[in-house]
Amino acid sequence: MNTLVIGKGGREHAIVQVLKKSSNCYCFPGRDGFDVQSLQTSHVSKAEDLVPEMKEKKIDLVVIGPEAELSQGWSDVFRSYNFSVFGPSQQASQLESSKIFAKEFMKRAGIPTAKYFVVQSLQDTLLQAKHFSPPYVLKADGLAGGKGVFICPDERSLKENAQKIFEDQIFGKAGEKALLEEFQEGTELSVFILTEGKDYCVLPLAQDYKKLHEGGKGLNTGGMGAVAPLNVGSEVWEDIEKNIVKTTIKQIEKDDLFYRGVLYIGLIQTAQGLKVLEYNVRFGDPECQVILPLLDMDAAQLFYDVAQGNLPSLKFNNLFSCCVVLSERGYPENPKKGELISSSLTKDSPTAYLLHAGTKKSKEGYRVDGGRVLNAIGVGLTKEQARKRAYALLDSFPHHLYFRKDIGDS
Ligand code: GLY
Repeated sequence: MNTLVIGKGGREHAIVQVLKKSSNCYCFPGRDGFDVQSLQTSHVSKAEDLVPEMKEKKIDLVVIGPEAELSQGWSDVFRSYNFSVFGPSQQASQLESSKIFAKEFMKRAGIPTAKYFVVQSLQDTLLQAKHFSPPYVLKADGLAGGKGVFICPDERSLKENAQKIFEDQIFGKAGEKALLEEFQEGTELSVFILTEGKDYCVLPLAQDYKKLHEGGKGLNTGGMGAVAPLNVGSEVWEDIEKNIVKTTIKQIEKDDLFYRGVLYIGLIQTAQGLKVLEYNVRFGDPECQVILPLLDMDAAQLFYDVAQGNLPSLKFNNLFSCCVVLSERGYPENPKKGELISSSLTKDSPTAYLLHAGTKKSKEGYRVDGGRVLNAIGVGLTKEQARKRAYALLDSFPHHLYFRKDIGDS
């Protein structure tokens, strides 16, 4: 089978790694460190630009990693040329690319979620805020590279952030509308399911460490690490499955949304019960990096089956995995590119390896080329063993890269 992975982060490297075990894998744009052939087409501004080379390479399956390409309808374009695609349609991708679309979907389905108002201006925001007490949650409607959610401790902060969205227009069109939401207190959980739009199968639960520093302190990031699987107990799981997962799939079918891929449901366990915080129409990054090593089956065939509208039963290996993200010291606010990574990046074994998230090859060696630079992955018989293996990879790492020391501790 010839497979193609769209994307260039640690998540896509993790997908490439499992696909290349049983397929001839290409990537676009990918990275040098992925160690597979990248499509050569240059000047790609739309999905169609890739089609001639995809035909020439006889691609059987395309896996689209990032939300941006899904929201631009790349899956629809590739399907229209008869490629099998793992990734939902543009219409279904609005579950992630429009927070208002997702809330209206949840409302129709009766899925528990925070109370909200759609707001379109600073005045509107301040007026509707009278229905809630602080802290206030303000979310830009569209995709904002993970930067569109503001937790505002008081009215002054709400005003500042509403000004940024509506008056400074820092998110452009993505911030023409926003959601003002009631703040939710509780423990967050990420659920990943594979679906063909009518039925689903469940992937292991993963825990993501979103804050920059140990103990959940500091700025929000895309994720500084993850562990899997996570055990939430059968009672909580039954609640999640009955009230969230099944209801979501039923509504996808009812709304006739074309969905073949992975759905990531962001949940929070509150004193009032489980609520959906968000839907994402792709794998989480770095959750993907800890979920895929737990699959005990041919991943290329699995993704192909889902792309064809078939759901196979999943097989897992009963192992644990841990991912520690190495970031550039300026991440997430101001990461700098270009510095040489003065360490060997070839310490691979099947249970301890590095994934490339933001690196670029140069004559002298790999250089930093993004905020999240590398992922150290450990796999083991216990969570502790997985964790030790991931951290052992970092023993001799250069101090100019940063990582949290407490991934997998709790
Ligand atoms: N790790 C969070 C995300 O991928 O959105």
